[in-house]
Amino acid sequence: MTTTFPLLTICGSTRAGSTNAAVLRTVAAVAPEPVVVDGYDGLSGLPHFNPDDDREPLHPAVADLRGRIKEAGALLFCTPEYAGALPGSFKNLLDWTVGAEAMYHKPVAWINASSSLTGAKHAHESLRIVLGYLNVDLVEQACVHIPVGRDLLGEDGLVHDERTRERIAAAVTALASHR
Ligand SMILES: Cc1cc2nc3c(=O)[nH]c(=O)nc-3n(C[C@H](O)[C@H](O)[C@H](O)COP(=O)(O)O)c2cc1C
Repeated sequence: MTTTFPLLTICGSTRAGSTNAAVLRTVAAVAPEPVVVDGYDGLSGLPHFNPDDDREPLHPAVADLRGRIKEAGALLFCTPEYAGALPGSFKNLLDWTVGAEAMYHKPVAWINASSSLTGAKHAHESLRIVLGYLNVDLVEQACVHIPVGRDLLGEDGLVHDERTRERIAAAVTALASHR
């Protein structure tokens, strides 16, 4: 019997037509066995972080987030850059993970899907700094820049370009193989 490897994917964009969300849907489509993807979709429902509320009973949305992190073998982020930084709603999610024991030594990576000239450099520098406070295991081989413009997406909302899909699958393999 094959043991599955649960991968939690978290998108930093709340936009319906998000390219970052498209990349994470593609992660689910190309993830090799035994990886099973849990696509987190609760970003918009998280309350604003307040340290006073970081205690039992937690807001149900926060409890759900932390429970899913606990179940995950690894976390994969995909976020846009807003105004030279991380989107506020995504930073809010990361703030809720600061007190999550489940983040300790959790293998974590990102796919930077930016196709802009600056490559969302500042957002990912910032993400690296934030993750440095969370005691995660940042899996460098799986932190990749794979530019995905809208032209690479099919009508089904997935990345169709074969070379790009292979690169996405390789990043997932690198993350899931981390020991
Ligand atoms: C409010 C706002 C600010 C943005 N700021 C930046 C930025 O600083 N750097 C950048 O490369 N792109 C910036 N962008 C462009 C987005 O990062 C880009 O459209 C990205 O594809 C959005 O991701 P999504 O398609 O997953 O929603 C900005 C977009 C918005 C809406």
